[in-house]
Amino acid sequence: MSTPDAIRWNQDCLELLDQRLLPNSLSYLSFDEPIAVAAAIRDMVVRGAPAIGITAAYAMALAAARCPPQPSVSAWATALAPARQALADSRPTAVNLFWALQRCDLVIEQHGNSGELPLAMLALAQQIHREDIAINQRIGDHGAALIGANSLVYTHCNAGALATGGYGTALGVIRSAWRDGTLRGVIAGETRPWLQGARLTSWELMQDGIPVTLAIEGAAAQLMRELRPAWVIVGADRVAANGDVANKIGTYNLAIIARHHGVKMMVAAPTSTFDRSIDGPQIPIEQRSAEEITHNQGVATAPQGCPVHNPAFDVTPASLIDAIVTEHGVIHQPNREAVLAHLDSAGANRN
Ligand code: MRU
Repeated sequence: MSTPDAIRWNQDCLELLDQRLLPNSLSYLSFDEPIAVAAAIRDMVVRGAPAIGITAAYAMALAAARCPPQPSVSAWATALAPARQALADSRPTAVNLFWALQRCDLVIEQHGNSGELPLAMLALAQQIHREDIAINQRIGDHGAALIGANSLVYTHCNAGALATGGYGTALGVIRSAWRDGTLRGVIAGETRPWLQGARLTSWELMQDGIPVTLAIEGAAAQLMRELRPAWVIVGADRVAANGDVANKIGTYNLAIIARHHGVKMMVAAPTSTFDRSIDGPQIPIEQRSAEEITHNQGVATAPQGCPVHNPAFDVTPASLIDAIVTEHGVIHQPNREAVLAHLDSAGANRN
């Protein structure tokens, strides 16, 4: 069995699998206007950096389809600006969102005078969606080549089919390694507070018949000492020019624990997740609501009024990362020089 699509285009509507309800209920929400899509991104109906970028492109296609025909590039840009702004404001860390919106801007420039803009915007969204699946398969194969025989690996959050157009980044590497017969099993950290590891990653892997064991984050050090996984494999929300990586809160802890135990750290991400304009300390980190921590399904689990710190992501320094795997290959021991050389030779992400 394979993972259901997180994102579907159905005639003239966008359908998103409501990931907040997984694994208990498989239910799609239908969208015909962009502001509601922006709210769905913010509210975690769809999540994961590449999936957020794909969804934003479809939302811009909805915006263009609903808009009366405009006479010029600048008129189209003005008419679509409220949708673009709502999407840009939805989640600040995942750079794929801004990468996708910039590709939409180019479509406005190229087709804003032609009368073909709504069709061109939808074609772009479908292209980004299709390409992402192929990119993940390439990431999976490059990453799997680093996995030795009979390996156990540890993953965090969900960087799987649900977080992308399909196949996944970190879970793409895991899927390819399983196909190649080198993988013994996977430990999935549960990933407080949204439980992406427990609800999504363990579900995806079990559907593919890949052996997975779920553990709380607090068990990571003990598990690494006892079970000696070969790699920690995670995705990314933004890879900075100096090789620092923003990913789900708790990734930095894992990188420190991994280094202490001689476990290698792999980040799997497409070049659309790279941001060569900033270094790690400048990556904007999304702060989410206190209720995500003080409540569990509406029931208080902390004293009323208790102050809360709830960053959704952290930044792992490049020095703790052994390999960043993209669709173009592997950046070993990442640093500024290696990251920029990789992007330059791939002709990728010139912003
Ligand atoms: O808050 P989320 O669920 O959107 O966080 C997702 C992650 O941190 C993923 O690891 C990252 O976006 C990569 S998904 C291929």
